[in-house]
Amino acid sequence: MADSQPAGAGLPVAPQTGADLEVLARGVLPPEVYDYYAGGSETEATLREAPLAWHRWRLRPRMLSGVAAPVLATTVLGTPVASPIGVAPWALQRMAHPDGELATAAACARTGSLMTVSTAATTPLDEVAAVAPESAKWFQLYRVHGPAYTDHLVRRAAAAGYRALVLTVDLPILGRRLRDLANDFQLPDGLVMANHPDQADAGEPADPELPAPAAGGSGVSVRRLSQALDSADENPPWTYADLERFAGLTDLPVVVKGVLRGDDALRCLEAGASAVWVSTHGGRQVDRAVSSAVALVDVVSSVRDQAEVYVDGGIRSGTDTLVALALGARAVFCGRPVIWGLVTGGADGVVGVLSRLGTELAHSMTLCGVASVEQVPGDLVTS
Ligand SMILES: Cc1cc2nc3c(=O)[nH]c(=O)nc-3n(C[C@H](O)[C@H](O)[C@H](O)COP(=O)(O)O)c2cc1C
Repeated sequence: MADSQPAGAGLPVAPQTGADLEVLARGVLPPEVYDYYAGGSETEATLREAPLAWHRWRLRPRMLSGVAAPVLATTVLGTPVASPIGVAPWALQRMAHPDGELATAAACARTGSLMTVSTAATTPLDEVAAVAPESAKWFQLYRVHGPAYTDHLVRRAAAAGYRALVLTVDLPILGRRLRDLANDFQLPDGLVMANHPDQADAGEPADPELPAPAAGGSGVSVRRLSQALDSADENPPWTYADLERFAGLTDLPVVVKGVLRGDDALRCLEAGASAVWVSTHGGRQVDRAVSSAVALVDVVSSVRDQAEVYVDGGIRSGTDTLVALALGARAVFCGRPVIWGLVTGGADGVVGVLSRLGTELAHSMTLCGVASVEQVPGDLVTS
């Protein structure tokens, strides 16, 4: 009978890919918030090219290998994780979902994934750390504050149990994100950058370098953040000397995020970094920068086995992850797929995204005859 349809007919098909989730997320977010999350800098060339650069690699699968249940568990900087797919630091998570960073942290604990928490979080770093304290988290640091407050944040992160410090070095100034400028994007009322000195707990050192918040609302706009970064007199751009200083400040290993050249990677290691993270900041900083998939090859060939190398940017599937591992990455990190998961389903949505990526990785590994993420042969891929 034409009218006897199965239950659920007519409802949207359950999303199977990150692209589906992005469409759903776009439907529920205010347009300027969607633009803030989705956008890149200037012509957005680097943003667009990031996923395509992974697609350019082709797999050379091995047959008759007998692999049935590939092992995804591994370690990053010695910390055990359930899979090599971690969550990249991303700002302003309460704008995506009321539970914000707390939901992402809960999802990472449930899936055994490594979470990197941003300086620009909307929840204080200590509260995020307190969600499942035993699950691995890294703290990401920006140069938006002067040295005194920055050092204070580093010590606070160490005390809160973060396992590494991620220095984002690709933000000497803010990229020109034309969508945000056109929208005059502002953090919505009621939300704060919880690790900013003017929002932080009483008793912490004030940061004279950061402009005071405007009356009413959070007052944090992209223009004001940009001004804070541009105040180079009081808050000079980071150099390798700063990297050495951070490496000596606590016992936390320092990971340098935003490296796109092999020679820079080696200098970071000489200055005390424990690992490097290849990234274009999701195409939000240097427009027309080389894609992460291309830069990874350069960085890995320079670093060789001296240190772990991580990568992010345009990783959308388990196959992208497998390519990155074959090119020498120890782990990959995801930004936007996690954002769309949080927007559409809170902690469950993030669990869904991380689980899907892990399942896809296991599937690709089985098809290609790869038994463990720690033994992905370089000759699995060809350009
Ligand atoms: C909305 C948004 C906010 C971000 N915030 C930060 C941040 O606070 N700190 C940082 O180091 N990187 C930040 N990033 C960059 C991510 O850590 C990561 O490099 C990038 O999202 C990876 O690319 P993908 O989104 O294609 O996965 C942000 C990215 C996005 C999309």
